[in-house]
Amino acid sequence: MTIEIIRLPTNSPPPPGLPRVAPRLAPEDAHSGAEAFAQSFVRDEPRQLFSSVHPVAEAQARMRHQSPLRYPGAKTGFASVVAELIDTARTSKSIPPVELFVEPFAGGSSTALRLLGNGTVRRALLADADPLVSAFWQVAASDPANLIARMKEEHKSFITPGGSAALERWDYWRGWTVPVGMKAHTARFETAMRCLFLNRTTFSGILHGGAGPIGGRAQKSEYGIGCRFMPDALETRIAYVGELYSKGRIADVWCGDWRATLDQIASTYKTIRPESVLVYLDPPYLEKSSKLYNVSFEDEADASWKGQGPHLRLAAYLMSRIPYRWILSYDVDPELTDSCLLYGRSRMTPNDDARRLGAKSFVVSKKLTTLRYTAASNGARSGSEELLITTLPKSVVDRISRLRPNEGSVEALQT
Ligand SMILES: C[S@@+](CC[C@H](N)C(=O)[O-])C[C@H]1O[C@@H](n2cnc3c(N)ncnc32)[C@H](O)[C@@H]1O
Repeated sequence: MTIEIIRLPTNSPPPPGLPRVAPRLAPEDAHSGAEAFAQSFVRDEPRQLFSSVHPVAEAQARMRHQSPLRYPGAKTGFASVVAELIDTARTSKSIPPVELFVEPFAGGSSTALRLLGNGTVRRALLADADPLVSAFWQVAASDPANLIARMKEEHKSFITPGGSAALERWDYWRGWTVPVGMKAHTARFETAMRCLFLNRTTFSGILHGGAGPIGGRAQKSEYGIGCRFMPDALETRIAYVGELYSKGRIADVWCGDWRATLDQIASTYKTIRPESVLVYLDPPYLEKSSKLYNVSFEDEADASWKGQGPHLRLAAYLMSRIPYRWILSYDVDPELTDSCLLYGRSRMTPNDDARRLGAKSFVVSKKLTTLRYTAASNGARSGSEELLITTLPKSVVDRISRLRPNEGSVEALQT
């Protein structure tokens, strides 16, 4: 994938004729690590789970693309691997139906949306540390009609005329910050629109400030700034998110660090049994994620393991503290499955706190799978190797033919 990077001055003034905003840091610039953010939910407090959940409209559940966001790193095709794992797990006595599927690195949420639509899981909790992304999901879930109306207005006023009108609007949203005194509700709505506009008009959907508009500043390419901004398709997808939330299928959308999300599940949903929760984690890439996401593991100052201490912290948590079964996807790196500081051990061993919350010692399976993705530069299909690590029962994991042994790892050499 070639990434087109255009460096813009971070605090450049908006172009003439566009609203001026107070000189405050944009949300993505306002922190150096995810912990700096206050947690937020769709409402003031986390919403409790609906006791019964309802199916969603068949046509929407079957849409080829369900997420309104184009997301760098979104694993097209991975949802079907996860669905097969969960469906197969249902045949195991130790795995009850998934009452709550948790995506703490939600991004474009493509896996959760797919699994909700086809009924593989009953409810999903979406969470992401990027306030831009979580504001989008919070508004799409709770206020879809107004977001759709606003999205159409933006399209009509700026994308349809194209050229300089579209580019000026792109600059406006790129430079936009929450004005001093704006009500929190309005600020979140505007942030959601900012996320959607930039996501649909920026190269590869990259929300990070270094990426430029589709088609470049010259707009000479046959693929111009508006080529991914399709109002009718977006309307259907946003409405689908709203329907999932109104029916309790999207339980809530949290903004926060993965650790805060996982720590807060048990105290928020007191009646849910840990065996009924499944966590799917798709953390930022090992390398270059700081060029793709506003919040990435590379931001953190900790310089252990390839400068990526946050990956070590996640591994320590998943291998000893989490009371739920989990599925983790990563880009392939031999050290991930060989180092005992990462996922080199063959069992997850819960500590006392995790045991008190119901955690058991699980076998850790490590597999490879090949995903197809569309290369951004020429639209050609190519394959990518993906590492899947999970505490779902080995008997279940070994039955999935699309998952191959992770050859070359210490584990594979021992078997
Ligand atoms: C690989 S992307 C997830 C892509 C997603 N699976 C999809 O299908 O679109 C990683 C996401 O993790 C988020 N993130 C980065 N650091 C985080 C943290 N400490 N806690 C929670 N989310 C974080 C980023 O904002 C980004 O959206």
